[in-house]
Amino acid sequence: MSRSGKVAVIGAGFYGSTTALRLAEYDIFETVVLTDVLDGKAEGLALDMNQSRWIEGFETKIVGQTTGIDGTGYEAIAGSEIVIITAGMPRKPGMSRMDLIETNAKIMRGVAENIAKYAPNCVIINVANPLDEMTALAQIVSEFPYNRVIGQAGMLDTARFSHFVAEELQVPVSSVTTLTLGSHGDTMVPVASACSVDGKPLSEILSQEKIDELVERTRNGGAEIVALLKTGSAYYAPSAAAARMARAVHEDSGKVMPVCAWVDGEYGLSGAYLGVEAEIGNTGIKKVVETPLTDSEKALLAEAYVAVKAKQADVQAL
Ligand code: 2OP
Repeated sequence: MSRSGKVAVIGAGFYGSTTALRLAEYDIFETVVLTDVLDGKAEGLALDMNQSRWIEGFETKIVGQTTGIDGTGYEAIAGSEIVIITAGMPRKPGMSRMDLIETNAKIMRGVAENIAKYAPNCVIINVANPLDEMTALAQIVSEFPYNRVIGQAGMLDTARFSHFVAEELQVPVSSVTTLTLGSHGDTMVPVASACSVDGKPLSEILSQEKIDELVERTRNGGAEIVALLKTGSAYYAPSAAAARMARAVHEDSGKVMPVCAWVDGEYGLSGAYLGVEAEIGNTGIKKVVETPLTDSEKALLAEAYVAVKAKQADVQAL
């Protein structure tokens, strides 16, 4: 097994720490850096994860580092090829992701400035909410080219949709193909026309009513978990999505994934971060892929674009 490179995860909450462990267990990186503003938290978690290496059989080293509001400690991320931003507050029951915008924008500004300073050549993968807006802010503050700033959400929403379809039909989840585009929020667009089970269109297997129900459950997938947990939000499926994206960057795989990417004319939409399918590689977004959509899906994607574009304009002032 050859290992190379360094990936950093900012924020050692459940999302960040689970992502760091997944990345380490891939055993493809030399180093995984985990940082947090809580004194000793990242160091403690890193030590714990490192002690699992002998049991799980991986050699990647995890480095924990406390960072200060003034940027101290960020030198630990120097030379990272990928930096995943998980820092920010999660939702409480009853909150929408948009309710987090002011608090998380302040956190994002500090984080993105330090990433630009210490890892100027990295690919940023943002997972902080509200996702599309925080991804846009990460790009504005870091001043990185658009392709090197990506948001994670489409992979997660698509995974949720696939799980719901598999459960409904009692089939292996591996036989299910689904897709979600648009925003990671109210204007999420679960693309029913791109969904199939063992190659058979979903519309031939389930009634429209049932599909609509699964689509709605997917749209509320994060809130359903927040309501059950009562404190904090989901992290197992979200971290799996973020780690797979980082792996695709590291391996320069060119894998097509639903992600939050800058659109520049695709679908006739320009100048915003939006959930679309894209080829992922070592430059971040290699290419946005235009998935064939029905007219009504195109209209929903355009609606999502209008909503996220307006909010992304507001975010500059935060
Ligand atoms: C979710 O949907 C954390 O936004 C994330 O669960």
